[in-house]
Amino acid sequence: MTSLGVDAELIGTDRHAAESLRSAFTAAGIRIMRTTTAVDEVLARPQTSCAHVLVLDISACPGEPAPTVRQLLGHCQESVIIVTGTDASANTISKAVAAGARGFLLHPYEPHDLVTTIQEAYETARSYGKVRAGRGTSRAGQVLSVYSPKGGVGCTTIATNLAVALAARGSSVALVDLSLQFGDVGSVLDLSSVNSIVELLGHDQLPDDLVNEALVLHSSGVRVLLAPTDLTVVETIDPEDVVTLLEKLAGRFDYVVCDLWSSLEELSMRVMEAADRVLIVTTPELPALHSVQRIITATRDRLRLDERAIFIGNRMPARAGLSVADISRAFGREFAATIPSEGVGITEAINRGLTIFDSRVNPRIAKPYKHLADVVVASLQQAPAATARA
Ligand SMILES: Nc1ncnc2c1ncn2[C@@H]1O[C@H](COP(=O)(O)OP(=O)(O)OP(=O)(O)O)[C@@H](O)[C@H]1O
Ligand SMILES: [Mg+2]
Repeated sequence: MTSLGVDAELIGTDRHAAESLRSAFTAAGIRIMRTTTAVDEVLARPQTSCAHVLVLDISACPGEPAPTVRQLLGHCQESVIIVTGTDASANTISKAVAAGARGFLLHPYEPHDLVTTIQEAYETARSYGKVRAGRGTSRAGQVLSVYSPKGGVGCTTIATNLAVALAARGSSVALVDLSLQFGDVGSVLDLSSVNSIVELLGHDQLPDDLVNEALVLHSSGVRVLLAPTDLTVVETIDPEDVVTLLEKLAGRFDYVVCDLWSSLEELSMRVMEAADRVLIVTTPELPALHSVQRIITATRDRLRLDERAIFIGNRMPARAGLSVADISRAFGREFAATIPSEGVGITEAINRGLTIFDSRVNPRIAKPYKHLADVVVASLQQAPAATARA
């Protein structure tokens, strides 16, 4: 199945039903942008926020679905509308289709039935040039998120040095500090700014000057979006706005590297869902390995980490004890890349605000990060359709 790369809004589908659709949608590259109870909510929003696909349940229509379909298409002219419902008569269906609905599905249906209906309807509409292109065709860049369920294992070090290593290959790279409360990308790269991610959230368009002002340019060429310094704004940040921003940045940069905090709440989940690859970092200690295993199991339906993650062993092999092969066996998975413990070397470089490629830093330190960048690029080239945005 090819990844559609479109956003869908579910109107009148209850949350529980929406959750049951999520996994099939994710696999097909359909992101559930929002679930909405009333049609008026859609009509009240600006036209620029219309989803590629609107799934309209008859229960959300005040009467027959046909007038509602017409109303929605008047507002969201490039959206594809699929109507779902219970006990609809042939007359109701035919009127809804005549009004512009591109598919009709009766309850009960399986999630993959709705996916197939959306795929067929969207592809047909696209072949007639009636809809705007999905994300898959409109954005060139790749979103990479770096995460560990356990704090202090090296995510920021890896996200930062990966961004620098990707930039050293000639790519344009944005590094986004999504460790919103205590983000330290700024101090690792010795950067500061009055601007942070907050300045870029909630905009329909991102003008160049706004992006250039908000993303601080580092000497490596990486553009960095810092976490807010004002902690009180953190709780006002909507994960959905963050994902929308990442998609927009991916339209401008070859790579958008996100440094996540270890807390597994909606922001981390949404960003990992939206990412093209999730880099999971662990150190070789058993508690860290167990935390990763638990996260893989707990998020299996939503994140499919066993398929989508790149596992990175930091500070490996451990100074005393198990080899990388032993640790992989205990972990039950291969590490795509391992990074040795560099002790003073990397910490000193960080403390001096130097990147791994600085001539004053031992070139040996840069090697594993260069290799990591190669591994990530190769993984993206192998299977670009593995994106799982939902
Ligand atoms: N391979 C390594 N060798 C030596 N020191 C390392 C290595 N990786 C990370 N460190 C050091 O470990 C400390 C924690 O690293 P880092 O801040 O990257 O972890 P984190 O997972 O982002 O932590 P947090 O949960 O606080 O966000 C830092 O002092 C960093 O310099
Ligand atoms: Mg960190």
